[in-house]
Amino acid sequence: MDKPKVVLGVSGGIAAYKACELLRRLTESGHEVRVVPTASALHFVGAATWSALSGNPVATEVWDDVHEVPHVRIGQHADLVVVAPATADLLARAAHGLADDLLTNTLLTARCPVVFAPAMHTEMWEHPAVRENVATLRRRGAVVVEPAVGRLTGVDTGKGRLPDPAEIFEVCRRVLARGVTAPDLAGRHVVVSAGGTREPLDPVRFLGNRSSGKQGYALARTAAARGARVTLLAANTGLPDPAGVDVVQVGTAVQLREAVLKAVADADAVVMAAAVADFRPQTYAAGKIKKKDGQDPEPVVLVRNPDILAEISAERAHPGQVVVGFAAETDDVLANGRAKLARKGCDLLVVNEVGERRTFGSEENEALVLGADGTETPVPHGPKEALAEIVWDLVADRLR
Ligand code: CTP
Repeated sequence: MDKPKVVLGVSGGIAAYKACELLRRLTESGHEVRVVPTASALHFVGAATWSALSGNPVATEVWDDVHEVPHVRIGQHADLVVVAPATADLLARAAHGLADDLLTNTLLTARCPVVFAPAMHTEMWEHPAVRENVATLRRRGAVVVEPAVGRLTGVDTGKGRLPDPAEIFEVCRRVLARGVTAPDLAGRHVVVSAGGTREPLDPVRFLGNRSSGKQGYALARTAAARGARVTLLAANTGLPDPAGVDVVQVGTAVQLREAVLKAVADADAVVMAAAVADFRPQTYAAGKIKKKDGQDPEPVVLVRNPDILAEISAERAHPGQVVVGFAAETDDVLANGRAKLARKGCDLLVVNEVGERRTFGSEENEALVLGADGTETPVPHGPKEALAEIVWDLVADRLR
């Protein structure tokens, strides 16, 4: 079988050096990679490096090897084009269809999926011109991953860092796996909650649960790879931020509710994968609770937490918004799942069977997705990403 052909476009930003690692990962995992840097990218990393690491010739202009018509051929033959880093200038040229070098020509001739991984200073990323160019590219079906937050070129920090090459590689792998069709969640905003809430008893103790957050992160990653703008509300997961995703950290159920209500206002779909504590301690001790000699411990009085899923299902932010819940059941999975779907009022409920060694913290999952329309979609045992893809298939069907 032919190796998948990837064009790695590199534009002129300091993060160009990180593209070497992305290139390495792509070649080592069996992709044929053609690097197309812009002339400014070569100020940061030279052509010799790209050529040696890719095993292919490197050109920046359409005037090299003209007899091979590279400005058309490279794009036409690609299975995926990924531009990392994508500077503000490159995004602008791509959005406006300019074709003044080999990379922009390639972007116009490519009919395969295109991924942009922008990197620039926060002010540039937030500028309305850049926002509009990103929106244009996304509307046309390109996957534009959100930059990461952290240290920038100088002493400043903020949003604008190139995401970790390993994360960009994962996005590429998933986009390639989905084939050449346009991303079906392009232009959509989806909200995913992940992890488990913690309800504090005192400054050092809390009531929590065993949710790792991995299923929610898989949902966020796969939605981003399918072109969605993703807001991930992460409750106590300790997992690295996925590329191309806006992450909001929360602690308790009440904080999660606030974050959900804010994020869902313009969301097309909401997936509540977080394990939300149904109860919280009625009182919070400002100082650490101490044991007292000869005395029994004080009982912990619990009060109900708001049911976020039921609330957002009952009061949809706008008609047509798709709401998905998760249910962890230890027994009578189908009957309990159907009853919970009706009680919560959501469109889809992903029912997991859980137990001591099942689901929590593992890389794999098995589930039954129940639809309010009576449908049942069994999901065989497999990676959490596979379940995530099926959830998005069902969501995309309902959004159409
Ligand atoms: N959920 C929520 N708010 C809560 C509790 C749960 O939004 N206070 C959401 C979870 O994110 C999940 C779904 O509801 O998507 C199912 O949660 P689960 O705890 O299994 O359901 P419960 O209603 O608590 O049912 P039971 O305790 O009977 O299992």
